Amino acid sequence: MTCTSSAPCDVITKAEQGGLLRREEISGLISLSDSQEIERLYQAADRVRAECVGEEIFLRGIIEFSNYCMNNCRYCGLRRDNMEAMRYRMEEGRIMELAQVIKGRGCGTVVLQSGEDPYYTGERMCGIIARIKDETGLAITLSLGQRPFDDYKAFREAGADRYLLRHETANPVLFAGLCPGRSLDGRIQCLKWLGELDYEVGMGCMVGLPGQTVEDLADDVLLIRELGADMIGIGPFIPHEDTPLRNEVAGDTSLVLKMLAVIRLVTRDTNIPSTTALGVLDGDSRRKAFQAGANVFMPVFTPRDFAERYDIYPGKGNVKKADGAIIDFKAFFDTIGRPVGEGPGGRRKRS
Ligand code: 5AD
Ligand code: SF4
Repeated sequence: MTCTSSAPCDVITKAEQGGLLRREEISGLISLSDSQEIERLYQAADRVRAECVGEEIFLRGIIEFSNYCMNNCRYCGLRRDNMEAMRYRMEEGRIMELAQVIKGRGCGTVVLQSGEDPYYTGERMCGIIARIKDETGLAITLSLGQRPFDDYKAFREAGADRYLLRHETANPVLFAGLCPGRSLDGRIQCLKWLGELDYEVGMGCMVGLPGQTVEDLADDVLLIRELGADMIGIGPFIPHEDTPLRNEVAGDTSLVLKMLAVIRLVTRDTNIPSTTALGVLDGDSRRKAFQAGANVFMPVFTPRDFAERYDIYPGKGNVKKADGAIIDFKAFFDTIGRPVGEGPGGRRKRS
């Protein structure tokens, strides 16, 4: 469409050209409601994605190896107080088998994900990381929550390349209310440590949390920009019936897509996945995300017997089955005209 004199068009153009957006400009983009303007936002993000990270979609194979968690986030089905959750820990041999499957399926990266499970001491975790590195050579991403600096350091030395730790929300009051015993400052400290240790660092937030405003979302974008994240995961909040937030409303997928597009415009050459949670609410959104700035797909390789118990939010298990059912990722992404990336696909292209 042609750009008339309307202000959002000017801001989209400014953002596409790499201009530094102010908080009000960011919240203005996130609040767009006119479908033509929203489409223009997506298209601008799609062009910046093409220019800064190319056409390839990179695959990260996820292994959810433990659903024990000592934390008690009010939104999450794995929270400590959820006695309905059936807990599991995978044998190390099983983890190794899955890492080989992931390699065989053409993923350049394995993601080791769990709740905050103290059973996996620094030493135990380092053993697994070193073995995967040695036996597969894959890039290794960890997603194990908050840990002491020394653990992060040891994991890095053992061979981990990247770390995902969502900041969840940049509103400190909201954060403290959602994560009992935790603070946004503590989370940010961990993210800074990870940066100092030369990890590629992933952060991100949920969209549609109870009490979250558009200004809060603008602050999420600003925090992501300020900390210089390499990877950004954004998903809708989905209420889980075995949590205190069971009666709240789920996040809006179009708001998630607008956030994703704005984050692409602001962060340029980062790695941004089309997340599982997005697909749970609306299968088409997961595809649409690839036309609004996303360039990463994270199929879950957790075997079904465990995957059904990695019940962070309802519906997650169904998407997992769909991921597992994709026989040929190249053919799958062919349908949206995008090639599958070879190799690890890191931001710094070092491994
Ligand atoms: N809905 C959507 N996402 C959730 N997460 C946790 N609980 C939910 C929920 N109910 C996300 C958080 C966390 C990641 C593991 O999953 O962002 O960091
Ligand atoms: Fe544990 Fe992560 Fe769930 Fe919080 S979001 S309860 S840290 S698994």
